[in-house]
Amino acid sequence: MTVIDRYAVFGNPIKHSKSPRIHKLFSEQTEQSLVYEAQEVPAEQFSSAVKTFFADGGKGLNCTIPLKELAWAFADHKTARAHLAKAVNTLALQADGSILGDNTDGVGLITDLISNHGIKLTDRKVLILGAGGATRGIIKPLLEQSVKSIVIANRTLEKAIDLANEFVNLGNIVGCGFEGLNNQQFDLILNATSTSLTGQIPPLPANLLSEKGVCYDLAYSNEPTTFVRWGQKNNALKSLDGLGMLVEQAAEAFFIWRGVRPITEPVIKLLNDERPR
Ligand code: ATR
Repeated sequence: MTVIDRYAVFGNPIKHSKSPRIHKLFSEQTEQSLVYEAQEVPAEQFSSAVKTFFADGGKGLNCTIPLKELAWAFADHKTARAHLAKAVNTLALQADGSILGDNTDGVGLITDLISNHGIKLTDRKVLILGAGGATRGIIKPLLEQSVKSIVIANRTLEKAIDLANEFVNLGNIVGCGFEGLNNQQFDLILNATSTSLTGQIPPLPANLLSEKGVCYDLAYSNEPTTFVRWGQKNNALKSLDGLGMLVEQAAEAFFIWRGVRPITEPVIKLLNDERPR
């Protein structure tokens, strides 16, 4: 009897996760035999749930909000990008039985911006809203694309300053509060706050977006998020949500687990076509 390889995404809440659908499409496309399920796991039960999953023969896990920091602490060893992000979204069982932690969010964002949307990052002025885990994971990948500068703006000023200071040796990066954004303009504004989940938006001054500037919400939703609508209202050349990033980070996780890289374009197209209009 062949035992089918098992994968899962852990999160809380997890009901609306598109990850099982994405990985099913990837496995069909690449003819890889596997199952991928979603499991609601409260933070208090994370460690025991992960141990049970791997003890029962599981091969790999995705971890999402609010479990990425716990997954980081759980992993036996981590990739360099996961170390820096202090968050892990992908756990992979290794041949020696140990668990590797990786973070594929940053590369997912960069691939979506550059390859899927043709957005140039070199020499661009970038603003990141928020200074939590989502921001931490994308700073180095953005700096590696030779952006001109990064400003991190956050409700809690100290967190923006502290986070910027951690990366100051890698590039031109500063932190500020939202009021510090007056009279500044950016080519790319990324929303990495958790406000989209609550339908809110940080207080942003007018004229924040340069001509032909792009807005990108790391969150995704079937309806345009509040930030995507803000971008549309402020004449963004493109105002995008994080569906493409979600598919790209999943493709990278799939590659880590299976050694095969799925083609993302038809999967993104299918999920986009399924959005209510
Ligand atoms: P994640 O891991 O998704 O980044 P997080 O670490 O809890 O989640 O960070 C959430 C981010 O959203 C923070 O930057 C938070 O700002 P504070 O550091 O001031 O808490 C930001 N955020 C959450 N709700 C917000 C709101 N209503 N307005 C502005 N920023 C908000």
